[in-house]
Amino acid sequence: MGIETLNLERHNGSPLYLQLCDALESAIDLGELQPGERLPSERDLARQLDVSRTTVVSAYDELRARGLVRGQVGRGTYVEARPEQSGAPFAWRGKVSLGALRTLDPTIRWITRAASDPELISFAAAIPALDLFPVEQFKQAQAAVLERGALRALTLAPTEGHPELRQAAARRFGIRPEQALIISGAQQGLDLIARCLIDPGDTVVMDRPGYLGAIQTFRAAGASIAGWDVERADPNELEDLLVRYRPKLLYTNPTFQNPTGRVMPTGTRRELLELANRHRLPIVEDEPYRDLAFEGAPPPTLFELDRNALVIHIHTFSKTLAGGLRLGWLAAAEEIIDQLALFKQRSDVTSPSLSQLALAGMLAGDGFDRHMRLLRAEHRRRFESMQAALEQHVPAGALATEPVQGGLYIWCALDRRVDSHELLHRAEGQGVVFVHGAAFYPDGGGRNQFRLCFSGVPPARIDEGVRRLGGILADPVVGQGSPP
Ligand SMILES: Cc1ncc(COP(=O)(O)O)c(C=O)c1O
Repeated sequence: MGIETLNLERHNGSPLYLQLCDALESAIDLGELQPGERLPSERDLARQLDVSRTTVVSAYDELRARGLVRGQVGRGTYVEARPEQSGAPFAWRGKVSLGALRTLDPTIRWITRAASDPELISFAAAIPALDLFPVEQFKQAQAAVLERGALRALTLAPTEGHPELRQAAARRFGIRPEQALIISGAQQGLDLIARCLIDPGDTVVMDRPGYLGAIQTFRAAGASIAGWDVERADPNELEDLLVRYRPKLLYTNPTFQNPTGRVMPTGTRRELLELANRHRLPIVEDEPYRDLAFEGAPPPTLFELDRNALVIHIHTFSKTLAGGLRLGWLAAAEEIIDQLALFKQRSDVTSPSLSQLALAGMLAGDGFDRHMRLLRAEHRRRFESMQAALEQHVPAGALATEPVQGGLYIWCALDRRVDSHELLHRAEGQGVVFVHGAAFYPDGGGRNQFRLCFSGVPPARIDEGVRRLGGILADPVVGQGSPP
């Protein structure tokens, strides 16, 4: 973290050592300082912050008293493992890995649970219109697989994926089947890449705000994360980050981005590739949403534009068919696919054969494309319902939203003083959930922002959910925030 950027206020009445201690505590809370990380020596930090050494010694003493750091004079001061919160039997305590200590954010589990609670109106779950899932087609595809010989569906498929599905994916994406790895969802793709490329202490540059699962995965692998601002999407700014941090990889979700819904223009894609080539930087292009334009086609993928085998492209069927299928594919140079397959073998051996074969059957006909036409039209209808509901029910000026041409999300900004976590807390009490903005920032930003998923809920419930949100925002205590 940028300890050198800590801002201590000399005349605000609170002792400097306490201000320093609080700032370090909040960096530990936010994960900017990781368990096991060494803090700067007292002398160095005193020099960097232009305070006395006694101030730093007292701040470290106080952190030690709060159980947040450990260490002795002369040997260094280290961030302490988080206090045991799981209630695990005592013999387990203190034995969990550093990776486990970095895996503490339960937001994705919470989103998944909220999605299956029929009482809640969930704008949190990142799901397509599941009620449009082509059930009959899927049933027929599965039956056809079993009729052709159940043994094929019951035998383990090769780790790289069943040849029929690899071929279907390769044909659609214009690659050779050997360049495709079938994965159990995009999240597995990210996990394999993190295991393959990240050593503790590496830096990853990624979208800011960006996909929370990526933040968690790279962090759990021991990486520090530097955010590249997706609103400015400025290649010069990216180059500064590359020079400053020399990252292991760049992670981006360029089309209908999660959470902002933004689409990176073709020109920026080309500049990004040019930069990556100059700095010999691998790019992970995560594209769950590219088939979900309301109309027309999005710009070409980074993978298509790449001439130097820099890009690993991740695709999933979670946002076009259903997340419960747990199927996607990843495209990269053959040598990379081989390496990633070794990690997949260690992770889940192979993705389920029956679902792979049924999906290959669906992709072979025109059923999937027909489904996509219906899905895109329905998503647009739901987006328009949400937009109309926001205009009708939310007090004027309380909310600003980003324009949307596809994908699943509306990214919302409240007045700077309003905390979206507090809004979520109130909304949950009224049976409505969404994802608060801070979950998408690797560095504590986004407190006044939040993400609404418009696709998973039918229009009548969208209207009701937004009406309840609007009611909460009309309350002056929430809607205008508390003074900073
Ligand atoms: C950018 C991004 N990557 C990956 C995923 C995870 O997808 P899957 O369910 O296929 O693992 C999501 C889901 O929200 C996502 O938004």
